[in-house]
Amino acid sequence: MTDVPEINVPALVAAARKARLNAHAPYSKFQVGAAVLDERGTVSVGCNMENAAYPLGTCAEAVALGAMVASGGRQACAIVIVAGGERLITPCGGCRQRIAELAGPDTIVYCASDSGDRLEKMTPEDLLPNGFRL
Ligand code: THU
Repeated sequence: MTDVPEINVPALVAAARKARLNAHAPYSKFQVGAAVLDERGTVSVGCNMENAAYPLGTCAEAVALGAMVASGGRQACAIVIVAGGERLITPCGGCRQRIAELAGPDTIVYCASDSGDRLEKMTPEDLLPNGFRL
C-alpha cells in the first residue's frame, strides 16, 4: 500500500454499530455489524443477513467486504466488528479467509465493544496463520 488513509477507529465503530442495527438475524437473533476502511479512505459497512435456508446466511464481514469491492475498493486497511454491548467477537473461519484475500500488508482488524472501550487489535495473519493462497 502506498497511501494509507488515516484510521479513525471511533468513526468506524460508530459505522459498524449503525449497520448492526440493520442486521437481518431472525433465526440466531445475534446481530453483528462491520465497517471496512479501504485504500481510498472510503468506509463500507455490512451486517449479517440470515436466511430460512440456514447455510445461505452471510456474516457482517462478508457483506461489508462485498460492499467495498462493489464500490471499487481493492484493499481493506482497517476492519471493525461489533456484536453489541461489551461483547467482543472474532471473525468466523470463512471470514478470516475473506479478510486475508482483501488485506494489505498493514491491515488491522479491530474487534470492538459498542462503546469502543474494549478493543482487540489483530492482524489477518493472527487470525489465519498459514492461510490458503493461490
Ligand atoms: N456472524 C457474523 O456476522 N460475524 C461473525 O464474525 C460471527 C457470526 C453472524 C452469523 C450469524 O448470522 C450470526 O452471527 C450467529 O452466528
